[in-house]
This record gives sequence, structure tokens and C-alpha cells, in this order.
Amino acid sequence: MDRPRITIFDTTLRDGEQSPGCSMNVPEKLRLAQQLDRLGVDVIEAGFPIASDGDFEAVQKIAASVRRPIIAGLARACTGDVNRAWQALQGAARPRIHVFLATSDIHLKYKLRITREKCLEQAREAVRHAKSLCADVEFSPEDATRTDVPFLCQVVEAVIAAGATTVNIPDTVGYSMPEEYGQLIRTLREKVAGIDKVTISTHCHNDLGLAVANSLAGVQQGARQVECTINGIGERAGNASLEEIVMAMRVRPDRYRYETAVAGEHLYPSSQMLAEITRVPVQPNKAITGRNAFAHEAGIHQDGMLKNPLTYEIMTPQSVGVPDSRLVLGKHSGRHALALRCEQLGHQFERRDLDEVYRRFVVLADRIKKVQDSHLLELIQDVANGNASNGDGAASHGKKFPPAAASLPLPRAAAAGANFNDAHSAQVSGSAGQATVSIPFTDHHSEQEDYLWGV
Ligand code: KIV
Ligand code: ZN
Repeated sequence: MDRPRITIFDTTLRDGEQSPGCSMNVPEKLRLAQQLDRLGVDVIEAGFPIASDGDFEAVQKIAASVRRPIIAGLARACTGDVNRAWQALQGAARPRIHVFLATSDIHLKYKLRITREKCLEQAREAVRHAKSLCADVEFSPEDATRTDVPFLCQVVEAVIAAGATTVNIPDTVGYSMPEEYGQLIRTLREKVAGIDKVTISTHCHNDLGLAVANSLAGVQQGARQVECTINGIGERAGNASLEEIVMAMRVRPDRYRYETAVAGEHLYPSSQMLAEITRVPVQPNKAITGRNAFAHEAGIHQDGMLKNPLTYEIMTPQSVGVPDSRLVLGKHSGRHALALRCEQLGHQFERRDLDEVYRRFVVLADRIKKVQDSHLLELIQDVANGNASNGDGAASHGKKFPPAAASLPLPRAAAAGANFNDAHSAQVSGSAGQATVSIPFTDHHSEQEDYLWGV
């Protein structure tokens, strides 16, 4: 059975850029837009043209040079904003005007100071005007999840009648719970006339850490566009993370039978590029793109990984563009991982010698936390020369070991894109100039395992 196709609407350059410390200049935005194109997103929200001349120019330049995806420009629900967005989008192969207006009573009363009637009229008029300029018009009722539901239905129905082709339902303040958000999408589908003619979109913020869960709940209730950002950057706690949504669908097609056009191997490079441009590092334990997402330090985990990566990884690092898994050599590491790293460094040990290397390694790791190749080589040398240990892992001639990060590349079946099911053995490479060893790989052929690997 065909899987429904989910449109990935990337708003890294608009909502993402609004997060503190994440602003980008025009050349940086253009570079990232080109990467988003390689990544395969369907829509790039390139900016908010009325907001500044820089935003206008970025939308204009991206529209002129990135031709495959739809390029969207944001506009408040007023003529000046819509005209400015349209002006910036002139060179686009596939332009979209994205109009928004808050609909919750809190926003109407305290921010906009307008009545519901005025709000309804303004939304309708702005969409009508945008439609007179551009065939592709999206409307967002800002703070939709805190809007009175019958009123929200009324607004959505009005903008569809006025020509909107996509209706986006923002959880602007990240307040919704997954069931509730899914229920809201279902209610709109049941109650709003004409809704079946438009694409329903999710736009979830992460204030309670539920942006991805809410987006997926929306998709399960019929939304077919998801708005998200690389690394989940965005206002306050951020937006739904693009890489997490895409990989949730890819790793768990038994629960989420949907397709996206995202090229998984570009996820990690996109995340790295964004971090490099904004100088905002990715949180180490960030799902999919954090530096620890494929790192294993505990001995039991390392042992399992070396026997079969399925034991502790639900997707391959290559499937998201991460060059390799990392076994961090630290005090939790086991003998097996240590022996492999020694082999990669060109040293094979008999059981008794390995015991001695391991004993010294544990003492050292306890002291310096992460053992680098250089430390390990010194330690191996000491054992080989029969130097006595001074009790802290170093030989009695008293080497000092500074704390430093060390990681061990895991055996992998093949380079990115290879099918794991064909792999029977893997080449393990050390760093340049170091020995490589062949490690037998366990087969895994069941369908269950195939989906676990995101193949
Ligand atoms: O969070 C929000 O409501 C928005 C809208 C402008 C779509 O970003
Ligand atoms: Zn937002």
C-alpha cells in the first residue's frame, strides 16, 4: 500500500532564525537554503520580508537561486506585508505567501486589541488579497491551540473560501498535548467545509518538549505538511526538529506509514552547517544529530555493539549522514572494546597481556575520564617493556596523562548508502596510518530488523 507523502516545510530561516543567537546574514542564509535543497525539503520559509531589509534581500536571493522547493515568505494579515512578501518572491520558481493572524482571545484582547469579528474579516481579506497575487497561499491562525474551537473552525472555513491552499495550525506557545493536538486536527477535518481541498499543516513549538510528538499526532489525524527546523531551533524552546520527525517516520513505519522526500544522509551535514553558521552548538545528547547520538561508552553496550549494532542502535549512523558510531574509551569500557582499539592501533595481545593492559587502562580511565589513542599507545609500550605501573595506570617513569576526548570508530558494514543486509564483514579503520582489521558482522534479515535500521 502506498504511504501518504508528507510535505516537509522547513522554517529554520524564519522561525528558527528568531531564536536568540541564531540570526544569520544573507550569504549565510543562502548557503543554508542550498543545503536545505540538497536535503530534499519541500518548502523553505526563507524569511519575513517586511521585518527588515536583510530579510527581504534573503528571500529575494533564495527565490532567485533555489529553484526546486517552494519558497515561502511570511506576512502578517495586512496589505503592506502581503505586498512586500510578494515583491520579495518575484523571482521564485514556486512562490508561496504565508499569511498569519492570531485568533486566540488572549492575543485578540491583549496584543491585537480587536474583536473576533474584526479578526475573521481581516484574515479573509488578507488571504483574498494574497490569492489575487499568488496561487499558493498558506494561512496560519497564530495561537490556534488556545483558540476557541468553534471560532477557529469559522476562521479556517473563511480563509479556505478566500483561497488558502494550506491551513497551518500553530501550537505557538507549545501548550498542547499530543492527543489534544491530534484531536484538534480531527475536529477541523470533521467540522470545516472545504477542508478536504486544502493541505492541513502542523507547526508545533517545544515549550513542554512535545513538539515532535504533537506534530506526529497531527499527521496521524490527517495533517500532510509538517513545519519544522534543523536542530529544532526556534523561538524559546524551539520548533519541532526536522531530523527527529523524518527519522521517527523512517525508523517506525509500523506506526507512521508516511513518506518524505528528505535525503537522510544530508541530515547530519545540515545540522553541522547550521551549528557552524550560527555558532550555536548542538546539544550533545540531541536525538539524531547530537555528538553522543551514536556514541557508546558503557562496557556492556560496547560489547553488544561489537557483536551486532542492532543491540543498541535503532538506526545506522550512515542513514542520517553521521560518519560512524563512536565507542568512547572511558572507565565504563570493557575488555572487548579495548582489545579492538589495540588491534586497530596495531597491537594484538595474548590473554595475560591484555589483562595487564586492561588493568592499567581502567586505573588510568578512572583518573583522566577519556583515554586517547596516544595514552593507550604509551600504556601498551609500558606493558611491552615490562615497566611497572606506578598505581595510576602510568608506568613508573611517571608520564602525565592530560584529560582528553577519545573515541573508537565502530565496525561498519559499508559506506553510507550501503544495504546492511548484504554485509557479512566490515573493515575497521583506525586513524590515518593505523592498522585496519576485519570484523565479522552478524546478518539480520527479518523485516522487523529492516525497519529498525531505517532501510
Ligand atoms: O508559532 C507561530 O504561531 C508562528 C506563525 C507565524 C506560523 O510561527
Ligand atoms: Zn512558530
